[in-house]
Amino acid sequence: MKTSGGTTAQKRRAGEAAAALVEDRMVVGLGTGSTAAHAIRAIGERVADGLDVRGVPTSFDTRRRAREAGIPLAALDEVVGPDAPGIDLAIDGADQVADGQLIKGGGAAHCREKIVDSAADRFVVVADPSKEVPTLEHPVPVAVHPDAWTVVSEAVRAAGGEPALREASAKDGPVVTDNGNLVLDCDFGDIAEPASLATTLSRTAGVVEHGLFVDLADAVYVGTDDGVRRTEL
Ligand code: 5RP
Repeated sequence: MKTSGGTTAQKRRAGEAAAALVEDRMVVGLGTGSTAAHAIRAIGERVADGLDVRGVPTSFDTRRRAREAGIPLAALDEVVGPDAPGIDLAIDGADQVADGQLIKGGGAAHCREKIVDSAADRFVVVADPSKEVPTLEHPVPVAVHPDAWTVVSEAVRAAGGEPALREASAKDGPVVTDNGNLVLDCDFGDIAEPASLATTLSRTAGVVEHGLFVDLADAVYVGTDDGVRRTEL
């Protein structure tokens, strides 16, 4: 369930502005998606100019992009733990943004994205104006253990949502995530209380991770036609 609507130039401005935050010797969480890809490319250009940085990718796709961009990579358990440096900054996209709360998972990478983004000292969201809404209402991607997709579907219906198993486009059957899970896109209509829904989903057995990112972002950079709108949260 990829979201689109913004222009390449808007996404590029947001990504490049976030990439400019990276400083020497930082460990940087590298998000997934077309907007984060602009940040990865821009960080790679700075590495070619001598920037000393390590990236922690949030997906197979991002790992490949980062390698192509020449960014040295680190595993999550190398940088988080006793005597480890931690993650200084994470840069990641979003499918919808309302008042600093996010829906992510359009690329089915939200499990690892949430781990890396929440482990970072600072998490900057990069987006285009089409992602901004007054109230979150995009279907919430829910990664589920493969055996549990009907169990979780029933729980989602009981919580007032309508689940749809995400189908692959170049494979028969469902999308399988980098971690071997399935994805339910769960339509709850307007989500007036994201924190409450997030708690309900997190408590459901069989849910590996959901795409509601509540109170995780520290700043939102929205690329526009002539600049970048920066909101600190
Ligand atoms: C992947 C994500 C992406 O960050 C989200 O889908 C936004 O992607 P894009 O920048 O291509 O619009 O959550 O799981």
